[in-house]
Amino acid sequence: MPHPLRAFRAFVDDRLGLPELRAKLMTGKILPKGTSWPQTLGYAALTLFVLQMLTGLGLAFHYSPSTATAYDSIRVFERSIPYGKITRGLHHYGASAMLILLFLHALRVFFQGAYKKPRELTWLFGLALFGCVIGLGFTGYLLPWDQKAYFATKVGVNMASQAPIGGHEIQQALYGGPDLGPNTLGRFYVLHILVLPLALLGLLALHLFQVQRHGITPPGLPVGARGEPGPRYHPTHTLKEALVALLVVGVVAYLAIQHGAPLEAEADPADLAYDPRPEWYFLGLFQLLKFFPGSLESLGAFWLPNLFLVALALLPFYDRNPERKLKKRPLALGLGLLFLVSIVSLTWLGAQDKPRHYRTPPHPLGASPEVKRGYLLVRREGCFSCHTYTDDRGEVYGETKEEDDAPDMADFDKTPQEMVDFLNDPESDIMPNFDHLKPEERLAIGRYLEVIRAK
Ligand code: HEC
Repeated sequence: MPHPLRAFRAFVDDRLGLPELRAKLMTGKILPKGTSWPQTLGYAALTLFVLQMLTGLGLAFHYSPSTATAYDSIRVFERSIPYGKITRGLHHYGASAMLILLFLHALRVFFQGAYKKPRELTWLFGLALFGCVIGLGFTGYLLPWDQKAYFATKVGVNMASQAPIGGHEIQQALYGGPDLGPNTLGRFYVLHILVLPLALLGLLALHLFQVQRHGITPPGLPVGARGEPGPRYHPTHTLKEALVALLVVGVVAYLAIQHGAPLEAEADPADLAYDPRPEWYFLGLFQLLKFFPGSLESLGAFWLPNLFLVALALLPFYDRNPERKLKKRPLALGLGLLFLVSIVSLTWLGAQDKPRHYRTPPHPLGASPEVKRGYLLVRREGCFSCHTYTDDRGEVYGETKEEDDAPDMADFDKTPQEMVDFLNDPESDIMPNFDHLKPEERLAIGRYLEVIRAK
């Protein structure tokens, strides 16, 4: 009598046809000669996508997508949920790592000429996948609803609204109204957890189906040439793929554990002093825009990037050179290198331009409405432009000036009642009067300062 487990396995194998599938996709597959490390990047990106889905699920269980609650739900997730801080860190750095890997994967495909016939559609689906991942990055960025999220999204949507036709409509559709607000957050959330992941899964299926159908491009051979058999897919190449994926996940985990994902103070749409910067992968585009001031703006924000995208998408159709060796593709090599140098230096230049605002602390978690009002007043009245605040973990917020003699807020010792009079007339040469504030506003400031005072 067969062992019950073996019988069960035979049953499943027979119904699902797993052994045939395994033989076809893994054990029986021979890759073309020359396949090695460069061909592992797509798999590593796929691994990160799985990581993003898992960590994203964890975040979604606790995230509360409304402007009143989003920010605090992220803070509670990081502080009180086991592994919350690491989960958010993995999701944050995983997104960047995924973009880097996709970029390298696309460069590999470009320089090896792997987009050429018969893989034109694989290339197109791949580009669309890249677009989805950028969209996921852009929409996910808003969700924590901190200062950076709010103002960087404004910059991004403003770029999108530069389109000569329908720019205004694009802006309205993204905002869900005339300005960035509660509707925007709702829309970005739906795009981020539903629309874009579904689109990505569909495109991924098409992309991988094409990869299976046409196989790995034999490196160095012209279009149409049959490659010689090289390494087995399994276990020779799968081992390499697993190693690279493990390395990448390791780096992401290291960053998540060491640094955690950044979070600034809660978004204050009324803040006029905030000097926004987009996320690093948009810095190149942001920098490019600076070369096109005034009426030329739509050239940098719309025409150049979009013409480039069209040129990229049509590449397999106008590049009729059948050669894949770089020596025999001087034009492609030159343009590819030119692109690479431009995007790296634009991003580098963009990163040199540091924002000109000081950091403000987050509000105390679980603060009463009065304390939160006091906190917002302290931010809006510019108290942090003279006074620093050092929190109990030694983090310093506010403008740190050398010659400054304004005391640190942690060292204030006035009671809320005393603050009402003090702010009305500080009797100081430097500290301004805040007599335009109502007494209850000055009291709220006092209540906030009492809460954050060093114990
Ligand atoms: C232009 C710079 C500046 C701004 C803006 C400013 N302060 Fe001050 N503040 C000072 C200086 C300087 C002192 C020290 C007193 C002095 O030199 O006269 C001071 C003193 C104080 C003190 C007394 C500290 C103590 O130990 O008793 C409090 C409280 C205070 N500030 C609160 C505030 C609040 C609240 C705001 C915002 C509503 C604010 N300050 C905005 C410069 C500033």
